Amino acid sequence: MTAVQDVKSRADIVEVVSEHVTLQKAGRNYKANCPFHAERTPSFIVFPERQTWRCFGACATGGDVITFVMKVENQDFAQALAALAQRTGVQLPSREQRSRYDGLYRLNDEASEYFRRVLESQEGANAREYLRRRGLDNETAHRFGLGLSPGGREVLLRHLLGRGHAEEQVLAAGLATGSGAGGVRDMFQRRLMFPILDSSGRVAGFGGRALDDGTPKYLNTPRTPVFDKGGILYGLSMARESIAGAGSAVIVEGYMDVIAAHQHGFSNVVASMGTALTEQQVGLLRNVTSNYVLALDPDNAGREATLRSLESSWRALQIDYVRAGGRSGIVFSQRHLNASLNVAPLPTGRDPDELIRSAPGEWERLVAEAQPLMDFLMDALPPRFDLGSDDGRRQLLDAIAPFVRSEGNPFTYRRYLRRLAETVALSEPELERYVWRSQRQPAAGAGRRAASAGSAGVPAPVSLEEHCLSLLLRHPELRERGVDILPDYFEQSENRDVFTKWLACDTIEEIGRSVPVDLADHLHTLLNTDEPPLNIKERERSLHSVVNRLKERYYKVQELALLEGLEDADWTDIAGLEQSQDRAREINQQLKGLYSGTDSG
Ligand code: UTP
Ligand code: MN
Repeated sequence: MTAVQDVKSRADIVEVVSEHVTLQKAGRNYKANCPFHAERTPSFIVFPERQTWRCFGACATGGDVITFVMKVENQDFAQALAALAQRTGVQLPSREQRSRYDGLYRLNDEASEYFRRVLESQEGANAREYLRRRGLDNETAHRFGLGLSPGGREVLLRHLLGRGHAEEQVLAAGLATGSGAGGVRDMFQRRLMFPILDSSGRVAGFGGRALDDGTPKYLNTPRTPVFDKGGILYGLSMARESIAGAGSAVIVEGYMDVIAAHQHGFSNVVASMGTALTEQQVGLLRNVTSNYVLALDPDNAGREATLRSLESSWRALQIDYVRAGGRSGIVFSQRHLNASLNVAPLPTGRDPDELIRSAPGEWERLVAEAQPLMDFLMDALPPRFDLGSDDGRRQLLDAIAPFVRSEGNPFTYRRYLRRLAETVALSEPELERYVWRSQRQPAAGAGRRAASAGSAGVPAPVSLEEHCLSLLLRHPELRERGVDILPDYFEQSENRDVFTKWLACDTIEEIGRSVPVDLADHLHTLLNTDEPPLNIKERERSLHSVVNRLKERYYKVQELALLEGLEDADWTDIAGLEQSQDRAREINQQLKGLYSGTDSG
């Protein structure tokens, strides 16, 4: 997550805006008299689910929390970002830090390239054979950047030093380890290397698998300034579009599971890398989907460790609700109700990798039929305990109580209580008292601040905008087709900023020079996201379709606000009503144009 994304995910737009204007609830949204122009009837709307705002009156502008602060405080992007960062406790990297990060990414890139060459060389014959035995084809191995770390104490280290890197940097990147008498040596020796990309597609670290029964099975890059395993989902940069398209993310544990899934065409799969989902990981997906499917070995479900892990994944997903009840006192029930954690129970003893390779249809079915976590537990847990005995019933309650407690939807909560009361033969009030009395230690990670405040159930606005920009930035021949796009189609301030720079500049270099330093990261990301190889015609079509979707979203939001405004319109204000009608007609026309394909926007 970049600092800009982090700030935006933590700053609640409703909270920030209410400090400047008095908001009234209007359906799922809020309205107010526009702070940016004088008016008597409110035409300024805040959309909590999208975390955006828009004035439908004279100023006809809108944006996200950063643009709001820019306008209301009359600040530039960097100032507004700094103010919000301070407010939300996000540490913005300094210029020096950023260039240090860049150095670490560069080292990782070079190491990754080196590993890849070793895998292709004579030395890699065994490893290639290993991959073949595991059913991995060359194309997939290549796509995931797999490599082999050389055998020997300091082969990579010498290679990197030879290319002018400092030993201290190689150590900082986690590519080398040790010191003093024992000497500095390569961290990874003769391991199958899985580059781990962060959400913007840069190599942040590695997982290295032993090629035999050596231990540990996997050695991972230790925590570095650019790598924190708990903040990354393996495979996300490749899965993001499919997740948005499928409307759900499937979460597995291992590198090999993700790779097998992608090779077989299931590309909405990411891995938590062997641990429970963290809030940061959920935060990475919040803007893309709110449907999570966990692939789980049901035999493990009764185990203490598995329960704890499920509990903490569950909490990571519930956090928005907890937060919504908090400071501002506003409950965004909509946002919460749409989030779901489902379980796809795997056949005993088989991990997704094996299942997908031997029975892809079976995998597909299990994922499609995944059950909500609580329903799964209510089915899976009781048979594991001796419900004939008091002790057995109590053990079951102790296992399941934490999940019941953290269920945020009051109706669902009641339903679980009722079912559980039946199972253990207690009255509901007795059960409820027990559930709240038996609190265990909260799972690790619980209670930290909300990771994100994205929207639920709406198509991924971020990736749509970024896909559009990424096409425009990388393909100068598309310029002519991009000039009709309105900056207002972009709801995210950093995207809108980049787009206006694109309009004003002729070359990437010029854009690079003119974006503020805080946006340099973002520009870098846009220029480096994965993109399928398309020819010119396909690129034009892709741009056309993405612009249409942006445009559709833009007009739908306008339409929604217009309708909400009409609900309590002043019916004596004839001029005002006529104006709304004209506007409605215009919106309609634009939307119709989109569907009939006569207007390419
Ligand atoms: P698994 O033991 O299930 O491994 O761990 P795997 O991914 O299925 O690998 P294969 O199929 O045996 O080759 C799941 C994940 O847990 C993390 C890794 O991210 C791994 O992919 N893990 C596991 C470690 O980090 N270290 C370990 O020693 C083991
Ligand atoms: Mn496996």
